[in-house]
Amino acid sequence: MQNTVNQNIILTGFMGTGKSSVGRALAEHLGWLFLDMDALIEKREGRSVRRIFEEAGEATFRQLESDLCRELADWRGYVIATGGGTLVNPKNLATLARHHIVCLDCEPETLWERLAFADDRPMLDSADKKTRLLNLLQARQPAYARIQHHVDATRLSIDEVVDKILRMGE
Ligand code: S3P
Repeated sequence: MQNTVNQNIILTGFMGTGKSSVGRALAEHLGWLFLDMDALIEKREGRSVRRIFEEAGEATFRQLESDLCRELADWRGYVIATGGGTLVNPKNLATLARHHIVCLDCEPETLWERLAFADDRPMLDSADKKTRLLNLLQARQPAYARIQHHVDATRLSIDEVVDKILRMGE
């Protein structure tokens, strides 16, 4: 990978693609710090993402995400896991454009297996959660397609995904 410590490595991709697990392992491998955007927002707000959605609405959460993107744009040497919707907003993508951004992809059935029983994803709240997931995934494809680097994580272990990211551009 060509990146230097002047950049952050930023992981994006749909919910359930493994951004946080891969990010943590990648940071450990590189000896860099790991930052999970959702976790930092939750810590600063003193409430979970679900509660932010329920009490303040999605727009407030999206504003917190955008504010944090602007803050992170000047940081370097971090591996950062975004939320699955963060870089769907082209302004956030532009804010972080100078960093090495990698999108993790996963087949829909695998995402469903991972997310069917998760109750911490307010974007999937629906009487028909699977249809909601498939529709949201489809709606976001054009946004994820704008990311330069992709790894299909469907059949890979966390370490294998880390290895693919490290070998990018070799
Ligand atoms: C969201 C994904 C979540 C979290 C929030 C919204 C989304 O993060 O930011 O629930 O819009 O896709 P993960 O991708 O880490 O689950």
